[in-house]
Amino acid sequence: MTDTTSTSPTPAASGAAADINAVSLSVNGAPYNVAIATDRNLSGVLRNEMGLTGTKEGCDDCECGACMVLLDGQPINSCSYLAIQCQGREITTVEGLASRDDLHPLQRNILAAGGVQCGFCTPGMLMSAHALLETNPEPTQEEIRIGLSGNLCRCTGYAKIIEAVANTAAETPVAPPSAG
Ligand code: FES
Ligand code: FES
Repeated sequence: MTDTTSTSPTPAASGAAADINAVSLSVNGAPYNVAIATDRNLSGVLRNEMGLTGTKEGCDDCECGACMVLLDGQPINSCSYLAIQCQGREITTVEGLASRDDLHPLQRNILAAGGVQCGFCTPGMLMSAHALLETNPEPTQEEIRIGLSGNLCRCTGYAKIIEAVANTAAETPVAPPSAG
């Protein structure tokens, strides 16, 4: 596993007081130790300290969903989440979806359905869809729309993305309820 230590430059040059915290967290199963200013958001740390640029930054204001990642399995807008709040937590980014040998079924289906045009929204869409299917493996069209309602797409009109999520759900076997 990767153990990455990264240190942001101190703000001493600008005259501001250094306010750096050490944070240990897991990203896509790999441990990271970073020393970061307390006001750094998670999306910036993922992209700049960890090199995980699949997570996009759009509005930087909790509006577009381009920065969506999973925090302990729950979707969050990482632009509006402080990285220091992730101490001891598990983050999953779009880079953590695919296996070494194959795309994740959601990735395969969104490509097959034509749900990717410019692609800027795609990582966030995939993370929201993944979180939805983890909790609701057989969503209705309406439930898919609600599950993706925090993600904006300027290109596709959404229909092909919703089709991709429905196709993924349809091809994924649902475990029967356990007896007793
Ligand atoms: S960049 Fe985070 S919601 Fe838009
Ligand atoms: S594919 Fe361009 S914003 Fe969604």
